[in-house]
Amino acid sequence: MTPEPSRRRLAFALDYPTLADARAGAARVRDSVGVLKVGLELFVREGPAAIALGADLGCDVFLDLKLHDIPETVDRAVASAIHHGVRYLTVHAGGGRRMLDQAARRAEGSGLTLLAVTVLTSLDDADLTELGVSDSTTDHARRLAALARDSGIHGLVCSVNEVARLRELMGPAAVLVTPGIRPAAGPSDDQKRTGTPGAAVRAGSSLLVVGRPIRDAADPAATARAIAAEIAEAEGAG
Ligand code: C5P
Repeated sequence: MTPEPSRRRLAFALDYPTLADARAGAARVRDSVGVLKVGLELFVREGPAAIALGADLGCDVFLDLKLHDIPETVDRAVASAIHHGVRYLTVHAGGGRRMLDQAARRAEGSGLTLLAVTVLTSLDDADLTELGVSDSTTDHARRLAALARDSGIHGLVCSVNEVARLRELMGPAAVLVTPGIRPAAGPSDDQKRTGTPGAAVRAGSSLLVVGRPIRDAADPAATARAIAAEIAEAEGAG
């Protein structure tokens, strides 16, 4: 089994259509993975049963629902996530200060860490202009990250390339979560800003999210083991 600290740093995205698929996929890699990420596809279909996979398999759960609504609604959804024992939950920083403040207050002392999503990686500068935002994606992301921080949210989802700069902005205790992780030899799929597991750890990523490189591998268990070993090696070198 992978050493506990390295395992806790690797999150497997359960991007599967059904609970049965997700359970089978997670069971194959649980020795190397400490966190299971439940996203919209699985949660909309299977609901809290998907969250229960974490307790069944000895992993924390990252509920990636990217909440964005009026403050009262998000506050109550955060309370529901706490009720289910979720460890990480995403909210859109674009929901504004009052939404973020209220969510942060609800999560305080609960064991749930909120993660702010800034500018979706699918958006570019032209998309922002169309939305009436004149800042570049980079500047807008920094503005939203600072807003989340000032509202008491000390976690962020960001690319490997942004970790070092955002660490300065958010401080040493912030939880910086990086998707877009690709083993050096593999395909990048539709991810544009990718980094290897070792590069992510060296840049200061707190939690690495990996989906397709494990899910679609010929041998998912061996792939997850190799990624966890790369994390452990980079931690040892750091
Ligand atoms: O398959 P892959 O490793 O690209 O999976 C990455 C996971 O992280 C997916 O579940 C995706 O929704 C999520 N994600 C992302 N990029 C972001 C935020 C979340 O890829 N900016």
